[in-house]
Amino acid sequence: LTALLIWAILGYLFGSIPFGILISRMMGLGNLRDIGSGNIGATNVLRTGSKPAALATLILDGAKGAVAALIARAMAGEDAAQAAGLMALIGHCYPIWLKFQGGKGVATFLGLLLALSFPVGAASCATWLVVAALKRISSLAALAAAGTSTFWMTLLGYPQGFVLGVILTVLIFWRHKANITRLRAGTEPKIGK
Ligand code: G3P
Repeated sequence: LTALLIWAILGYLFGSIPFGILISRMMGLGNLRDIGSGNIGATNVLRTGSKPAALATLILDGAKGAVAALIARAMAGEDAAQAAGLMALIGHCYPIWLKFQGGKGVATFLGLLLALSFPVGAASCATWLVVAALKRISSLAALAAAGTSTFWMTLLGYPQGFVLGVILTVLIFWRHKANITRLRAGTEPKIGK
């Protein structure tokens, strides 16, 4: 249990690095809190107008979830990997450095899924891409990817991730409360707008 706790804390610390804020500050793109949705993720970084900054945020926010899970798995096995992955997502959503006001966790979610089970992660990324291509709304694509992740886990040979998948899905839906309200009102902006 102590070992799990250590991996959970390390996962949290990885996840709590707010790459969107750091990158947009370093590139002189302004304060993300004053832009678009005010969120710290790649979708909102794209609203600064910088595609490279958004791409870097997407990759690094994804990588922190993946790296946390992969290191934990290599050193301490599957339970540690899941604990580190979950805590990386929680770290992104509730980072201590930002007074627990973090992001929505989508890139980190996809990154940690790719690390835990590559087929499941790939199917979830594909789900995001298909919905984003059809509807051009990032939050809707995220909700679709999260909502189908346990289905992909069951179908693609990672049933041991099911409970984790349910928790991740609930957390991502919870973090998208404002987006869901906008989606229902038909006011959620399209990607890049
Ligand atoms: O990755 C977060 C995305 O699903 C929604 O972001 O900025 O449109 O609220 P945003």
